[in-house]
Amino acid sequence: MNQPTPPYVPRIRDPATPIIVAIDGPAAAGKSSTARWVAERLGFYHIDSGALYRAATAAVLRARSAQPWDEADVLSAAQRVSARDERRSFVLLVDGVDLEQEMRGGLVTQHVSRVAQMPGVRDWVNGQVRALATGRSVVVDGRDIGTVVFPDAHLKIFLIADPWERARRRLIQRLGRAPGDQAIAEETERLVQRDARDSTQTVQSKDAVLIDTTYLTQEEQVERIVALVKVLKADKSGTRPDEAGL
Ligand code: CDP
Repeated sequence: MNQPTPPYVPRIRDPATPIIVAIDGPAAAGKSSTARWVAERLGFYHIDSGALYRAATAAVLRARSAQPWDEADVLSAAQRVSARDERRSFVLLVDGVDLEQEMRGGLVTQHVSRVAQMPGVRDWVNGQVRALATGRSVVVDGRDIGTVVFPDAHLKIFLIADPWERARRRLIQRLGRAPGDQAIAEETERLVQRDARDSTQTVQSKDAVLIDTTYLTQEEQVERIVALVKVLKADKSGTRPDEAGL
């Protein structure tokens, strides 16, 4: 595949400068697990922006008189979301309760794209992400991190993978075993529909490095990103990743 050549300008001269790595891409491309692993390898924090959209959606679905299609209701429910700092990552709580399972469940997944299209909700999530990132080196994953949230991120990655492979991985994650072709086909259909619902907010930045993970192991994709960050930190002026042998 022809990869666009990003303008590669090393910008990190002071080793104390917090580094921002943005990882964007479509659903189930492996953004969150890759971001978590890269953050662990580098000793950075991981921020999952999609989890904030999911937490706001879970909060509004729980509120008895609130409607998930009403922006004011979602924003009011979002006030009940908080973040607990846990081992260089953030666990999201609704009314102080960890709702991880509910947030990843079918009902939230069904409503989240619509909630994520509300401008006020996007402002709320972006504000939360920027606040959590303040003063620390972070790996942030989402759809528009490199374009809207951190347009000056030091490194931007756009992760893609073939829809069938994304569906297969998502099912293994959910079921804990290898799925059959029929189940993969149905999940592919759901993912393609969500891609369409998310298309306006999923934007590849011009200066992002595109990584197609269809034929990569998770370890390989993590290694590539870690290697790119190491080049940035080394500040080899004028050295592009390909010249550095990456
Ligand atoms: O993990 P998966 O890719 O399935 O989704 P997610 O990262 O948990 O994000 C859930 C939803 O939030 C997505 O389907 C998008 O609608 C929305 N989202 C967004 O609009 N912008 C982001 N930066 C992150 C997520």
